[in-house]
Amino acid sequence: MAKTARSSFVCQNCGAVASRWMGKCASCGEWNSIVEEADSTPMPGSGMSKSAKGRIVVLETLTHPGDDKITRLATGLAELDRVTGGGIVPGSALLIGGEPGIGKSTLLLQLAAAFAKAGRRAVYFTGEEAAAQVRLRADRLGLAKAPLALASETNVSNILATLADGPHADLVVIDSIQTLWADALEAAPGTVSQVRAATQSLVRYAKAQGSALLLVGHVTKDGQIAGPKVIEHMVDTVLYFEGDRGHPYRILRAAKNRFGATDEIGVFEMAADGLREVANPSELFLGDRLARAPGSAVFAGVEGTRPILVEIQALVVPSGLGTPRRAVVGWDSNRLSMLLAVIDARCGVSFAQHDVYLNVAGGLRIAEPAADLAAAAALLSSISGVALDPDRVTFGEISLSGAVRPAGHMLTRLKEAKKLGFKQAVIPAAGDLDGGQVKLKLARIDHVKGLAGVLGL
Ligand code: TYD
Ligand code: MG
Repeated sequence: MAKTARSSFVCQNCGAVASRWMGKCASCGEWNSIVEEADSTPMPGSGMSKSAKGRIVVLETLTHPGDDKITRLATGLAELDRVTGGGIVPGSALLIGGEPGIGKSTLLLQLAAAFAKAGRRAVYFTGEEAAAQVRLRADRLGLAKAPLALASETNVSNILATLADGPHADLVVIDSIQTLWADALEAAPGTVSQVRAATQSLVRYAKAQGSALLLVGHVTKDGQIAGPKVIEHMVDTVLYFEGDRGHPYRILRAAKNRFGATDEIGVFEMAADGLREVANPSELFLGDRLARAPGSAVFAGVEGTRPILVEIQALVVPSGLGTPRRAVVGWDSNRLSMLLAVIDARCGVSFAQHDVYLNVAGGLRIAEPAADLAAAAALLSSISGVALDPDRVTFGEISLSGAVRPAGHMLTRLKEAKKLGFKQAVIPAAGDLDGGQVKLKLARIDHVKGLAGVLGL
């Protein structure tokens, strides 16, 4: 083939375009992610000739009788409804990103089957597995009887033609965007231009037809295929499905949501018969806690509107290394370094000769600053070798000065602790309990200096 088309160099991670090949993307810093792509031919209909005059569009006002409420389709999975803000909106596009093998296909198959069972039309296009494989999985999940329409297809034109040919689809699942390809483009499937073009056509179709579009996008570390990042701006909602392979728990988190908040999480458990919803995450994350081991503290956290109690484990051991090790799972490592420095400077407890390991049990990842106090409690308990009372929860943010700052939703946290049988709590001195009363023994501290004392260390 004669090479007439111009080409550009596109980062498969962030979509930045460079004029020449580089080992490292100047925009996102990813290594080895730049691939040469033929410049895309414009989509039919989107090209504008220079002489064409614009069409006058109807300008509307902000108020419009009748459409002041978003209709939502309940998914049948309460955890998914929670994360999306009450269900999926018809005509919207939702992207579910996650590492391969985390359970995206399983989640969407369960969801599509639930839709189909409820009498709605759901169509599932898979580009990763053969239809027979999906059928086998559905069989294993006990969903074989659901009237789900299924096809193994990766060509966007074929997908659109199939959808246009059948009855109106309420839900369209595409597993995954990285396998899709549009005829008009020369680039290989999985490249930024293919992923963008395919998503664009599908989103346009979904908006026009009022179908809810669910896209699966793999997140890969090696940057060989375009990640969900390159289409995040085209879709209405972006959810990430995360979890630790070693744990059965999976967390669904919203990164963007045009129809709701992004702070709720959905908790699932991967079992032999598919994903199960976990309505009471605290019980699960505290499940197999060893009573009275040094270095264990319970953090009373809040994700969105839901309280989640989780065990924070610390292990502090004498180090033989010049630069002691600090390793963190489920928390920010910079936050740990900061906390160690604050404890050193304000409480006089030094970790300079010790390796420090910090782990959030159950595979949960905590981003709340209010976890500081619980992490500090776990660290102090481990370095002193004294176990904390197992019936105590802790929360509060620690500032660089050592001051303990109030956290939001204090009452919600304490109520959850009370419900799960905890008897005492160490919490910030400032911040009110919204007038509520909780029958817990409260120790309120305003500085991290006071922590060891109230913990009995
Ligand atoms: P899958 O949905 O294929 O992941 P993704 O689409 O994100 O790549 O799920 C893959 C893993 O889930 C697989 O390693 C096995 C596990 N699994 C179960 O444990 N139980 C089940 O019922 C199913 C369907 C999968
Ligand atoms: Mg899959």
